[in-house]
Amino acid sequence: MKITSAEFVMSNSDVAKCPKNFIPEYAFIGRSNVGKSSLINMLTNRKSLAKTSGRPGKTQLINHFIINNSWYLVDLPGYGYARVSKSSKKTFQKFITNYFEQRKQLVSGFVLVDIRHQPQHIDLEFMQYLGENGIPFGIIFTKADKLKPNAITRHVDEYCKVLLETWEKLPPYFITSSTKKIGQEEVLNFIEATNEEIEELRNQ
Ligand code: GTP
Ligand code: MG
Repeated sequence: MKITSAEFVMSNSDVAKCPKNFIPEYAFIGRSNVGKSSLINMLTNRKSLAKTSGRPGKTQLINHFIINNSWYLVDLPGYGYARVSKSSKKTFQKFITNYFEQRKQLVSGFVLVDIRHQPQHIDLEFMQYLGENGIPFGIIFTKADKLKPNAITRHVDEYCKVLLETWEKLPPYFITSSTKKIGQEEVLNFIEATNEEIEELRNQ
């Protein structure tokens, strides 16, 4: 898929205030600093459409970006990081779970995981939560530039092995690097194919 336009629409912490139009939406979630915002910039070929930072906790709100005037990418705050006040130190912030449970336009979430690390409890827990709520998701391995090719394969295989201990079937997964622009086509093609399926269903 070719990106012809990518624009910021709005930020907020209330799912009820998210854009009202009914177009397909894809949301990025994962631990703080895993590279959610960087991935949005990489996918859209923009340097700073989504704000990134070396310090975790940069993205604090639900951010909508409209792509090619026809679908949304959503940048979300990270979980598992508590610079925020103690009262909001819950594992998954309520407005994030509200977003996943209530946002009807959401077609698929993408759980981002750092390819260098062993499966982390919090990520597996979030995938479990999505599964229990019937929310489709894919996995995006980030920062692939930090590993050599054989280590990439090894880490992904190990990750899949752990997933298959609790999941019957693997979700779609993608290997990416925002700095080296790896995986752009694969992720965009997946979104494009999914958008086409939705369009066909609508026309039936
Ligand atoms: P929060 O908004 O805090 O939840 O973080 P985030 O998941 O949006 O991460 P962000 O995109 O802000 O990136 C965090 C840090 O990781 C930044 O220093 C990025 O430059 C770096 N980073 C992101 N993607 C990559 C990547 O593919 N490769 C490398 N080497 N660094 C990356
Ligand atoms: Mg961010």
